[in-house]
Amino acid sequence: MELAAEREASPEEIRSFRELGHACVRGLATPDEVAAFAPSICDAADRLAWNRDIPPQRQRTYDQAFHQAIGLCWQDEAIREFVFAPRFARVAAELLGVDGVRLYHDQALVKRAGGGPTPWHQDAYYWPVDAGAAITMWMALVDIPPEVGSMVFADGSHRRGDLRGPAISDESEDHFARLVEEEALSTSTHGAMAAGDATFHAGWTLHSAGPNPSADDRPAMTVIYVADGATVLVPERDEQRLDLALYLPGAMPGGPAATDRNPLLWRSGT
Ligand code: SIN
Ligand code: NI
Repeated sequence: MELAAEREASPEEIRSFRELGHACVRGLATPDEVAAFAPSICDAADRLAWNRDIPPQRQRTYDQAFHQAIGLCWQDEAIREFVFAPRFARVAAELLGVDGVRLYHDQALVKRAGGGPTPWHQDAYYWPVDAGAAITMWMALVDIPPEVGSMVFADGSHRRGDLRGPAISDESEDHFARLVEEEALSTSTHGAMAAGDATFHAGWTLHSAGPNPSADDRPAMTVIYVADGATVLVPERDEQRLDLALYLPGAMPGGPAATDRNPLLWRSGT
């Protein structure tokens, strides 16, 4: 399966991303395209999820929310084709409003049947790059019914930058749920998804997800892109130091976010 044909981000998708910090792109991959990649991604996620073998009594809320497997594109050529797909990267670049994007990293997030909610958090808490230059694509690998649904976003929260809450945990859930309530922040979800539908969200967009009360796993694949030309920031916290070592190996603060683990995935006019 090729994933070759590109598509542009529509004006409405761009408006949604810039104004609200999130956009939904239905049918970014066809059901057939997803069906060609989903088994490899799900198998790899099952084998490689770092939090898959934690005994129930030691599982944190995060571990109950999903099994997380990172860097699958470096493990499997078929998955690399999916993660490197210019079609996805082009939409990411156009939503960000940049000429090109590089890979920051990929991760599979499989919310298991009966899995718990994803606590409120901001992804850029972990990133040693300018959050305005990075974007996450989250793609449903199966049809996701309404009772499972997709992420919930706090509209416009990306414009407020680092809200200085805790790392993703029960504490971040309490902290940000209170913020959403006290400030009566407007929230949106794109709800049920078909396989191949995707959402994109900005680095500082506050988001969460509900539990999975269904009997089926909810596998999603994410690709995080960074603008070509983005600079590595001086890490502010241990989580950012870890991300720097893992996803930008050898890169130095002040230098480009462009190691050999960060290939250019799309550039306009090429
Ligand atoms: C989820 O898949 O439940 C959350 C994804 C994310 O936080 O980006
Ligand atoms: Ni997130």
